Amino acid sequence: MALSSPAHMICFAHRGASGYEPENTLRSFSKALELGATWIECDVRKVENELVVFHDRTLSRLTGSSGWVGNQTIASLRALKVKGSEQIPLLSEVLALLKGKARAQLELKGAGSGDLLARYLNGMLSQGWAADSFLISSFDHEELALFKRACPAIPIGILLYGYPMNTPQMAQSLGAYSVHIDLETVTPKRVSTLHELGFKVFVYTVNEPTDISAMRAIGVDGVFSDYPDRVLSTQN
Ligand code: G3P
Ligand code: CA
Repeated sequence: MALSSPAHMICFAHRGASGYEPENTLRSFSKALELGATWIECDVRKVENELVVFHDRTLSRLTGSSGWVGNQTIASLRALKVKGSEQIPLLSEVLALLKGKARAQLELKGAGSGDLLARYLNGMLSQGWAADSFLISSFDHEELALFKRACPAIPIGILLYGYPMNTPQMAQSLGAYSVHIDLETVTPKRVSTLHELGFKVFVYTVNEPTDISAMRAIGVDGVFSDYPDRVLSTQN
């Protein structure tokens, strides 16, 4: 799977073009496409037996409503508005928008999301979607392992808080394609060690032009940005 070259840093539009439009909404993903993004990142949760795109565990920050997302019905979630105007999208709606235009970096959030997403994406593969249209990540490495076991064809990336000493071993044991590191903890040494072991290195969340340049200088393979245009406009 050839995702990048040294001269080219992938840009994952983080929750869409979330610096400009309400995060994780069709409006935000459409804006990211308009800006030229070829990879979209979004957060996937299981609600009832459906996959919805929503970052938080609770409703308050984004909808002004209260309660846990996982305790809602799809009908009640779909009646809410993100930032007062946008419907919470189903994953199927997001993929329909991206089809033929951009690839999907799907982050598993919450228990039960891995197995359900694996079953869903196995269905997409059998309909002709390419496995490298997707890259699946999670901070929850157990959930990620459940995904990988049920859908081995699609690449996975381990998401890190901080930089645990056993990061390379974790990535190897999960069969990861990539390691996703916080901007706060990425270093040139960590990037080169992971590269020597054959992993791609993607860094989140990189919004400031100086940080975008710094990531390019240390040779990371890609960055997540709320402002994809800032990354894309400085590509070689
Ligand atoms: O995948 C990078 C980034 O999305 C992880 O953090 O909180 O934005 O989902 P968060
Ligand atoms: Ca995310």
